[in-house]
Amino acid sequence: VRRVTRIEVALGGRSYEVLIEEGLLDCSGEYLRPYARDNRLIAVSDETVWAVQGERLTRGLGRIEPVPILLQPGEDSKSWDVLSSLVDRLLALGVERSDHIVAFGGGVIGDLAGFAASIVKRGCGLIQVPTTLLAQVDSSVGGKTGINACGLKNAVGAFHQPSLVLIDPGCLATLDSRQLRAGYAEVVKYALIEDAVFFEWLEEHGRALLDRDAEALHHAIAVSVAGKARIVATDERETKGKRALHTFGHALEAETGFSDRLLHGEAVAAGLTLAFRFSAERGLCPPEDCERVRTHLEGMGLPVSLRQAGIPSDGAKLVGHMMADKKMSRGRLPFILARGIGAAFIDDGVELSQVEAFLDSQL
Ligand SMILES: NC(=O)c1ccc[n+]([C@@H]2O[C@H](COP(=O)([O-])OP(=O)(O)OC[C@H]3O[C@@H](n4cnc5c(N)ncnc54)[C@H](O)[C@@H]3O)[C@@H](O)[C@H]2O)c1
Ligand SMILES: [Zn+2]
Repeated sequence: VRRVTRIEVALGGRSYEVLIEEGLLDCSGEYLRPYARDNRLIAVSDETVWAVQGERLTRGLGRIEPVPILLQPGEDSKSWDVLSSLVDRLLALGVERSDHIVAFGGGVIGDLAGFAASIVKRGCGLIQVPTTLLAQVDSSVGGKTGINACGLKNAVGAFHQPSLVLIDPGCLATLDSRQLRAGYAEVVKYALIEDAVFFEWLEEHGRALLDRDAEALHHAIAVSVAGKARIVATDERETKGKRALHTFGHALEAETGFSDRLLHGEAVAAGLTLAFRFSAERGLCPPEDCERVRTHLEGMGLPVSLRQAGIPSDGAKLVGHMMADKKMSRGRLPFILARGIGAAFIDDGVELSQVEAFLDSQL
């Protein structure tokens, strides 16, 4: 018996569904048929994903023939050069505005193919088929797309909502455990922002999830997507930005140059711990909550300190990265801090000098 979880992202005329089911890839044709033209669908993917999951997608599509455009895996592909060649290839294939491009891969492919879809012929259709945990719980939903430029992460991009998101947790069978753990950090982030009950569930089932237990993955993905769908529906362009909770994490990523040295999710894990510690030191959050966050993330094998993240503590340098943040406005950076687990809030009154001193103390 099939048990497809359907979650709606309610955006008026641009509403769409996120479907979650183990094995969805094996019957993708059923869901993707309405989007094919002449029984063909263009699928943008990376070499690695296509090598391990391409055949399943192809078989699942049945009579629909996928036309794969394969890119190099890795964050470096989120560049003007790769975008430009991707757009050229889409145009050479005769993409029309009414066509749908399938983004089949992790967040890099989703962001890149999504951005290409937002500009080719002034915008064509997009379907997200995310294959990493991070992409399944976060990047494939919400319509944020883009590339890095000028050394800045996601500096250029567009909001372009997909028409459908197909999530098969079974894809994660081939994902390496470091990537799985990094994606898990985003799940924890969501729980810490606004769902204390879910955090408790994660404390109990996180281990099973990392062991790729199908039930645990399904539940965690469904809860995370439902949470994200709710936020997107009320604040599509994320002007209130609570879900970011990334002020610390982004600075750590910037310091390591957005590389394999520190994956995004690993930076998120260390950043979350720092945000809770900073909140506790300011008397905003009970120290026990701070300790629970650290214990859980560390127990799941994620970095929880500057040292574990491989970053020499240097407050001034890290604060420098924060000042380059897109959310910086009029010399102030809204900080996402916590009153406790599941109770994040935005603090506009944080002095960067205090943050600098705090980071310097985190040896
Ligand atoms: N748009 C958004 O809202 C949003 C949100 C969060 C992150 N992001 C972006 O997402 C990107 C990171 O995404 P990511 O963590 O998915 O990284 P990724 O896309 O680079 O994928 C990680 C690695 O896993 C491989 N891979 C993917 N799926 C696999 C599978 N099923 N089996 C085996 N290998 C597989 C890929 O080839 C790649 O080498 C960043 O660029 C970040 O900016 C975007
Ligand atoms: Zn993130």
